[in-house]
Amino acid sequence: KIQPLVDRFGRIHNSLRLSVTDRCNIRCFYCMPATDAHFMSRDWLLTFEELYRLVRILVQHAGVRDVRLTGGEPLVRKDFAKLVAMLSQIDGLEDLSLTTNGILLADQAVELRRAGLRRVNVSLDTLDEESFQRISRRSGVDKIVAGIDAAIEAGFESVKINTIAIRGITEPDVIGLVDFARERNVPLRFIEFMPLDTDKAWRSEKVLTGDMLLTMIQDHFGELTARDRPHPSQPAEDFQLPGGARIGIIRSVTAPFCGNCNRLRITADGSVRNCLFSKTETPLRELMRSGVSDETLLGEIRQCIAEKRSGHGIDDDGFMPPDRPMYAIGG
Ligand code: GTP
Ligand code: 5AD
Ligand code: SF4
Repeated sequence: KIQPLVDRFGRIHNSLRLSVTDRCNIRCFYCMPATDAHFMSRDWLLTFEELYRLVRILVQHAGVRDVRLTGGEPLVRKDFAKLVAMLSQIDGLEDLSLTTNGILLADQAVELRRAGLRRVNVSLDTLDEESFQRISRRSGVDKIVAGIDAAIEAGFESVKINTIAIRGITEPDVIGLVDFARERNVPLRFIEFMPLDTDKAWRSEKVLTGDMLLTMIQDHFGELTARDRPHPSQPAEDFQLPGGARIGIIRSVTAPFCGNCNRLRITADGSVRNCLFSKTETPLRELMRSGVSDETLLGEIRQCIAEKRSGHGIDDDGFMPPDRPMYAIGG
């Protein structure tokens, strides 16, 4: 009775990234504008019941196995832990995880773990408060560090750190961040900066590439050992430092993993996107609110996935970034 979501290239989509809000409590320049961010009107946000319904349909009829909650910043959504508790009850859902900026995590970690959240990825681009304020136009490195430590303490199945790799900007922090993660024994992943920023300041020269990162890290820590990718759809290439610490590199720009992509996204206002960079999306909110059946919704989602393009095309002539910036799509 489960029929997977398959596209024209045979890619099976069993991993959902579900955005719960486009709002955020910081303003990272690689994602949001410094001022005047435009947010969705509140009644466009899918309710917890609507989110639950979509996840249930996808898990029970389309073979979706894991859900990652994203935003904006998911922890600013009111009663977020309640949503986690609802979703974690869905039969057949194997993994429920969160990607967060960590600012509010110290307050919520224990409650989220109890509600059934399994894994947490926290974004941390620098340990230096001044640099953090330049990047995020807000303050709070200490809150993020407290959030990471609270998550480790709360006993999640995994806690990881994500760092956006940007030349000259996060470059000075690479070694310090590796040390920070190593002390805590949590994996750190570097993500190549992608053209998803509202300010449209992205240039290929600004990407601190996986190759550059590996050279920097090896020069400092010694020979890295590549580890196997447990799933080809995993975006990170994992490496081990001498002494055992783990780092990952997500070469979204220089070595995209699109060929093995297994992800679909639902935006906070209820549109399905088959790619971060897709040109079109399939709005479901009004359909849901007009009372259509599960079959109709699933049919719309299948159609959206069927039309997925082969890759993100960042290197193509005439590449255009998506019409929505990262915070409105969902990280
Ligand atoms: P794990 O389950 O822990 O492996 O999570 P993940 O790495 O899939 O999720 P996370 O939210 O931590 O994503 C890490 C980074 O990968 C994000 O910051 C994005 O920049 C990038 N990323 C996530 N999804 C996609 C995608 O569909 N396409 C591309 N090109 N990049 C993505
Ligand atoms: N390029 C790469 N990753 C980005 N993220 C946000 N904007 C960008 C970008 N322009 C990351 C966040 C977080 C995840 C949700 O997406 O840092 O780790
Ligand atoms: Fe907020 Fe995440 Fe965008 Fe940073 S990347 S501004 S934390 S939504």
